[in-house]
Amino acid sequence: MNKEQYIEIIDNEFIKKNVLVIGDLMVDRYIAGKVRKLSPEAPVPVLDYSDKKFVAGGASNVVNNLIGLGAKVRVAGIVSNDLAGRWLKDELAGRGALIDGIYETNERPTTMKTRYTTKGIQLLRVDRESTNDISDAAKEYIEAYLESNAASLDAVVFSDYLKGVLKDPSFVKKLIGICRANNIFVAADSKTDEVGAFAGADIMTPNVDEVSSAVGIKIEIDEDVDEAGKRYLLESGVRVLLVTRGDKGISVFAANQSRKDFPAKDVEVFDVSGAGDTVISTITIASVCNLGIEDAVKLGNIAAGIVISKRGTVAIEKEELLRSINEIKNS
Ligand SMILES: Nc1ncnc2c1ncn2[C@@H]1O[C@H](COP(=O)(O)OP(=O)(O)OP(=O)(O)O)[C@@H](O)[C@H]1O
Ligand SMILES: [Mg+2]
Repeated sequence: MNKEQYIEIIDNEFIKKNVLVIGDLMVDRYIAGKVRKLSPEAPVPVLDYSDKKFVAGGASNVVNNLIGLGAKVRVAGIVSNDLAGRWLKDELAGRGALIDGIYETNERPTTMKTRYTTKGIQLLRVDRESTNDISDAAKEYIEAYLESNAASLDAVVFSDYLKGVLKDPSFVKKLIGICRANNIFVAADSKTDEVGAFAGADIMTPNVDEVSSAVGIKIEIDEDVDEAGKRYLLESGVRVLLVTRGDKGISVFAANQSRKDFPAKDVEVFDVSGAGDTVISTITIASVCNLGIEDAVKLGNIAAGIVISKRGTVAIEKEELLRSINEIKNS
């Protein structure tokens, strides 16, 4: 595909697509300050508070990426009726996402990771979360939400950070069944070791460590990638496996085909966190705009290259993706 075709699709087709993100919504909280002294109470620094910041993380970062690409985005997951939960709902709604698929419950706190920092250095991270399976009521709510919106959806992205929403394989199976019955494209990114949990998905995007751990193959030499990827593809029951490999890009595995590698962009890296969310978002929307998997993966690498060259976890923006494509030579 040449760059004019890419531009045409990104510009005119992405905005027509409806995507539902189902997964573990999280809040990343940063508390910054100056350290001037040690505490007289214990051998720890005293952080002189100056600033705090909330950032939408986990599955909500996938939401931000899809919105940045121009898609119409619905969100399903759970939050508590606490400060973080209310902030997250307002934030996502403010970005233009439809948040009525978010089940609110007080049975557990909103997943939040708090970093205490000084001069950009982390002093401490505090996690407040429950990683238990969510309640039957929450599952029923999310399932009903998917059912009632299925007719209008082009894709569903499962974003599983092992925080509970997608912990129950029979629940996930049910959701994927609904997607299949409605011809909805299914993408999954999961840290799970239960390889078959997302069987029936069109694409799955584990990173190389997740693949290695799930199939129990240590990855040392290039052939190990082949062996682990093939095993994961077979056991996972997904149509196409996309293994993200950091600076080595993305390797594609599909039935009866040999592995194909797509190189990462050669960029100056500032912050790689969130690159996986950018990859699955970009490849999903490109796929439902009828790009072939190879063209979609190339676009995924370009988008990831943009977000990692910025400080902090940032989402891709359509304008930047267009600019990057404009800069490449036609091939
Ligand atoms: N150092 C790098 N140089 C160039 N591209 C990179 C680099 N690191 C990551 N990428 C891009 O980002 C993509 C995803 O990165 P990676 O494989 O690290 O995913 P991940 O571990 O799931 O990330 P995340 O922290 O978001 O979970 C890669 O396939 C590649 O396109
Ligand atoms: Mg990841």
